[in-house]
Amino acid sequence: MKSAMIREYGSNEVLEFVEVSRPSPHAGEVLVKVCAAGVNPIDWKIRSGAGARMGLTLPINLGSEIVGIVEELGTGVSNVQLGEAVFGMVSSGAFAEYAVAKATDLVRKPVNLDFINAAALPLAGSTAWQAMFDEAGVSEGQRLLVTNSSGGVGSLAIQFAKAKGAHVTALASTRNLDFVRGLGADEVVDYTSQAFEHTISDIDVVLDTVGGDTFQRAFSTIRKGGKMVTVVAFPQGEAERYGIVTKRSYTVPSARNLTRIKELVEAGKVIPYVEAAMPLADIKQALALSEAGRAHGKIVLDMGS
Ligand SMILES: NC(=O)c1ccc[n+]([C@@H]2O[C@H](COP(=O)([O-])OP(=O)(O)OC[C@H]3O[C@@H](n4cnc5c(N)ncnc54)[C@H](OP(=O)(O)O)[C@@H]3O)[C@@H](O)[C@H]2O)c1
Repeated sequence: MKSAMIREYGSNEVLEFVEVSRPSPHAGEVLVKVCAAGVNPIDWKIRSGAGARMGLTLPINLGSEIVGIVEELGTGVSNVQLGEAVFGMVSSGAFAEYAVAKATDLVRKPVNLDFINAAALPLAGSTAWQAMFDEAGVSEGQRLLVTNSSGGVGSLAIQFAKAKGAHVTALASTRNLDFVRGLGADEVVDYTSQAFEHTISDIDVVLDTVGGDTFQRAFSTIRKGGKMVTVVAFPQGEAERYGIVTKRSYTVPSARNLTRIKELVEAGKVIPYVEAAMPLADIKQALALSEAGRAHGKIVLDMGS
């Protein structure tokens, strides 16, 4: 079968599309025929060298989330059935015709989504859910600020938070203002034309998916005792000056969270947005599009059902 693999770190040139043998599931794992796989910034970050910092060993089969059909069960698997359509995160190897996944990380695909749209959900959705609800405890009536609201994570975060009854303020560039308004944001601030920290205040929780200068400037929007949860920056003590709590969130697979996301999707309260779906053979183009950092919603590889 074909798989997107790197044998060294670097730019898209190091990416090879190679023939490898089909993996076999071990105990507790399943083999999934991949029908679609979401592309995430972590994929090109691993290719560029983050893989070494994360303790990964070369060669690496890229790709971190799948939607597909269960093809083979490892021993001891009882939560999924042969032939079932499932989705979830994988530790590697999603950009291939078949991938092995831990069975307990997989959940049945939402019935009202096709494979491509379902592929927008596992990693980005789990990231938004874990950071906002498990780590920052966002609840009904709270005021949330999402710093990158047009990307894969932010576009789902807005919808999850609205479904929870939170008040959402969203930062986006001029061209994405209507897009994030359409996702349900209560207030939309154009980060390219105004200093958002001067117009936004009394925020209970910031979900930061930008880092750097944006992360620093967002502190002053938070009320005393409020929270900043970031999936990109490394908080280093500035929080004390503002009387707030900061947390760095690292996404882990969670079938429980994915099930809640699936329920919201099936209830029509969350609709993932896919900007581009490309064949697996266009993996370099897909990674380049993600790396350019301008896509709104998700980029997905379509392996066909
Ligand atoms: N810690 C974890 O476990 C974890 C998990 C998932 C993701 N992440 C990280 O979270 C970040 C976001 O991921 P993603 O998948 O949502 O990214 P993404 O989909 O690639 O984000 C692209 C979007 O970001 C917008 N954008 C770019 N610069 C911006 C800025 N300064 N302020 C606001 N919006 C901006 C772009 O539109 P404009 O350029 O038009 O504004 C575009 O719509 C990535 O760095 C990713 O690696 C971390």
